[in-house]
Amino acid sequence: MTAETRDLAALIADVPDFPKVGVSFKDITPLLSSPEAFQACVDALVAASPTDIDVVCGMEARGFIFGAPVALAMGASFVPVRKSGKLPRDTVETTYDLEYGTQTLAIHSDAIKEGDRVLIVDDVLATGGTVAATADLVRRLGGSLVAVSVVMELAYLEPREVLGRHRIDDVTALV
Ligand code: PRP
Repeated sequence: MTAETRDLAALIADVPDFPKVGVSFKDITPLLSSPEAFQACVDALVAASPTDIDVVCGMEARGFIFGAPVALAMGASFVPVRKSGKLPRDTVETTYDLEYGTQTLAIHSDAIKEGDRVLIVDDVLATGGTVAATADLVRRLGGSLVAVSVVMELAYLEPREVLGRHRIDDVTALV
């Protein structure tokens, strides 16, 4: 870890037994409360990601917080991937297992064009289910998933095994 990523890691709080017993929740709100740290985090996500990205996908809700500023910094479109029932127009959806429970994610059917180069950005990579589900949505719309950039990876949950099975190889975690 660099000094910069150590600073970021120190601003992500561990909250034991939230939202249920046995789950250790990663609370990014201390990081967000420091404009310097938040800016450094966004800059590091941009630096860690490939260039020539057409679309940045961020997943509800915390993926929006990091994905939107990364998209602006890259001059790319931002596409929100939302929980089912939130997007108003025609969607493509997928259901998957989460560390706690199941979830359905949706994307507008016209959000990605055939051949668009897509970057997925999220706060935490835990089991890998959310990223794998988003990759599925991107590919079903004809997008080319180029890379995944996250703030924190929970390596002990072995998300890269899941991502590897979904042919998602270019994954960067800052912390
Ligand atoms: C959290 C987190 C990631 C996902 C990671 O989101 O922000 O998106 O879980 O978990 P996974 O790798 O095991 O799929 P959550 O679904 O809790 O939604 P939230 O951002 O709305 O709290």
